[in-house]
Amino acid sequence: MVLLAKAPKASEIDWSALGFDYLDLPYRYIAHYKDGQWDQGELTEDSTLHISEGSTALHYGQADFEGLKAYRTKDGEIQLFRPDQNAKRMQRSCARLLMPALSEAQFLSALKSVVKANADYVPPYGTGGTLYLRPLMIGVGGNIGVHPAQEYIFTVFAMPVGAYYKGGVTPTNFTTSYYDRAAPHGTGQNKVGGNYGGSLLPGDEAHKAGFSDVIYLDPATHTKIEEAGSANFFGITKDNEFVTPKSDSILPSITKFSLLYLAEHNLGLKPIEGDVYIDKLDRFTEAGAMGTAAVIAPIGGIEYQDHLHVFYSETEVGPVTQKLYNTLTGIQFGDVKAPEGWIQKVDLD
Ligand code: PLP
Ligand code: COI
Repeated sequence: MVLLAKAPKASEIDWSALGFDYLDLPYRYIAHYKDGQWDQGELTEDSTLHISEGSTALHYGQADFEGLKAYRTKDGEIQLFRPDQNAKRMQRSCARLLMPALSEAQFLSALKSVVKANADYVPPYGTGGTLYLRPLMIGVGGNIGVHPAQEYIFTVFAMPVGAYYKGGVTPTNFTTSYYDRAAPHGTGQNKVGGNYGGSLLPGDEAHKAGFSDVIYLDPATHTKIEEAGSANFFGITKDNEFVTPKSDSILPSITKFSLLYLAEHNLGLKPIEGDVYIDKLDRFTEAGAMGTAAVIAPIGGIEYQDHLHVFYSETEVGPVTQKLYNTLTGIQFGDVKAPEGWIQKVDLD
């Protein structure tokens, strides 16, 4: 049996060298659904899930997840950014896959208990690191027909992370793909495992060609930008518009909705959700990818039909993207006043 190495002591971690890698932290939360109800769940040190070979998550993709972060503020407190939105999105993913939704209260309490139990692993303020939280729900038990499971596991595990895309706030290039991420009336708007399985091959092809990620085009016509493999897309126009695609097959990004609000209220930009044609990229002076893991990752250029369209610069972040980044991360780390209800503190006592 292969034993996975436990995370080093928090005091031994070089916070400024963190990437986006799995680490087996001391504690995670686990709850079980059986006979029509969720139990109250508990913290456990066991990082291995013990499940039946007939689990629907393994065969039929009955699995959904979330991603959010805990941030260390200047005064040493720890806070979460809009976790209620993750709870609600997971409930929608559960509805789509016929899985039993967890109450928002249990979801939030699970998150906070995992952060509190692993508090030493929330990177210090100023390092840029955060504690990434991964809520996950899977269908389990003995099944073989294509039907929803009778039993489920919900878990939340965590790990300290740095930049998701290697450049961080330095621009990197993205490419388009022949492949689609999601079907027009499929599961693209839900955070379900199956969407990501299909993105591994195009993602690998993009990485091997030196790009950070794929920018998927709309599955019906391949003329409009949908989103990146792990983040939504935005562009800034010379008329001070913040533009992001509107589509039923992209993930409704919490970062995206936050930036639509902040672009308007903090930066005075006009927020627009609409069509973004891949052959009309000239309208943008800057562009970026946005998401929990990606934060705001400036896009240097997008390759489409063997041509690299460069936005602001391949080496420097544009001024509007930088302001958006400062505002968003300022709120997340507690340095900029947050709109009402966006921040939830984790009680460490
Ligand atoms: N799009 C995809 C495909 C993602 O995996 C993510 C990550 O969660 C996002 C967008 C960004 O969503 P959010 O801002 O809610 O993290
Ligand atoms: C996130 O940003 O939380 C994601 O889930 C993106 C990726 C790691 C799947």
